[in-house]
Amino acid sequence: MKFFVETFGCQMNTSDSQEMARSLMARGFVPSDNARDADCILVNTCTVRQHAEDKAVSFLGRLAEWKEADPRRVLVVAGCAAERLGEKNLKRRFPHVDLVVGAKSIDRFDRLLDECMASPPRDGFDARGEDLGSWSRETRIERLLPEETVSAHVSVMRGCNYACSYCVVPSVRGREVYRPAGTVLSEVRQKAALGLKEVILLGQTVNSYRPSAAEDGVSDFAGLLRAVNQVPGVRRIRFMSPHPFYLDEKTANAMAESENVCRHMHLPVQSGSDGVLERMRRNYTRSGFLEKMSLLRRAMPDIFVTTDFIVGFPGETEEDFRATISLASEADFDGAYVFKYSSRPGTVSAGWPDDVPEAAKEARHGELLSLMEGISTKKTEAFVNRRREVLVESKGEHSFEGRLREGRKVFFTSGTPHRPGDLVPVDITGASGRTLKGRAV
Ligand code: 5AD
Ligand code: SF4
Repeated sequence: MKFFVETFGCQMNTSDSQEMARSLMARGFVPSDNARDADCILVNTCTVRQHAEDKAVSFLGRLAEWKEADPRRVLVVAGCAAERLGEKNLKRRFPHVDLVVGAKSIDRFDRLLDECMASPPRDGFDARGEDLGSWSRETRIERLLPEETVSAHVSVMRGCNYACSYCVVPSVRGREVYRPAGTVLSEVRQKAALGLKEVILLGQTVNSYRPSAAEDGVSDFAGLLRAVNQVPGVRRIRFMSPHPFYLDEKTANAMAESENVCRHMHLPVQSGSDGVLERMRRNYTRSGFLEKMSLLRRAMPDIFVTTDFIVGFPGETEEDFRATISLASEADFDGAYVFKYSSRPGTVSAGWPDDVPEAAKEARHGELLSLMEGISTKKTEAFVNRRREVLVESKGEHSFEGRLREGRKVFFTSGTPHRPGDLVPVDITGASGRTLKGRAV
């Protein structure tokens, strides 16, 4: 029996998908690289913007025929859009859906899946458990989802206690719950023992991590970074997504003093206008954010900082937008995602007029995006003619693909074979947009 996973949205969803995929594998399903041949399809959805939800929902709609071909097939819809839309609504719109597991119920996935598999009975879909812990590294590389052969996504907390006025996430993922530090660390050790070289610590506001009891000497996010840095086999540590409010000297120092923590931080700013930031309820000002940036760069002059911007937020004037444009350069970001505001049902800002005309949203989006692409290209070009270590993520016929510590993607050629997970010194020979090319030393 085969399963296929389609994941929309953020790395948190990737991590949830992996967790659910493990449950499926423990029941005898093996990963398939195409949906058509699968006996079970898991669609893990996102709802952060309407467009993200629409993509997931339209993917679901297209699976009706697949299900009709064999009614024993199992279609599972999980994640944030599933939580927001609800089981009744989804099953009414898509009668071919068997199981709905909203973002708040992922912890109960095993039980919900077993119930779904048992009723109605599915002849020939019997469970045949496998002990994944006994798989060799080679078997994992062959059989696991590709993301899990190099990087371990480890969630350290669920939910979010913030209430940014535009954001649907707190309502679909609930309030913050921290995993005990001992549990997080043992998961990291387990993944490192399996040969995974990179650990990505995940949480909606990951740096607010504050478990109720200290374990292994870890009582906060800075402590967690230091502890993960000590785990043998872990060569790179990343985390997503920190909130500027919780970024302090202690965290910056922990990063600077931990050699395996990557010199990259994705720190969403959203806007450069104090008025907009206040209405977004971000809990910092423009100058407060810039102070956090200097604090980071004092501790790590070579750190790469990328960010998210939202343009066209309700009430955003041309002057507000100019403030965002000037912040983009002043903060010296190394790259950014730029999003057009999308009104989400149930959020505070959904009650305000979505009053920036679509044409203005589009123009602001285009302007900021091209500014950021220019900046990002320049920052990428600065790596040319340097020798850098690349973590191999995948291999093609004649070349390899991997990443620098700063997060930039590298395509390189080599006279010797490499496997995903290898760390290879590469001479960077060229740049194009955000990607680099090179030759292994
Ligand atoms: N509209 C547009 N962008 C949004 N984001 C979150 N909510 C919205 C919304 N309603 C963006 C933010 C966040 C990223 C994950 O998605 O920039 O950092
Ligand atoms: Fe999308 Fe947010 Fe859910 Fe991630 S947490 S999948 S970005 S809605």
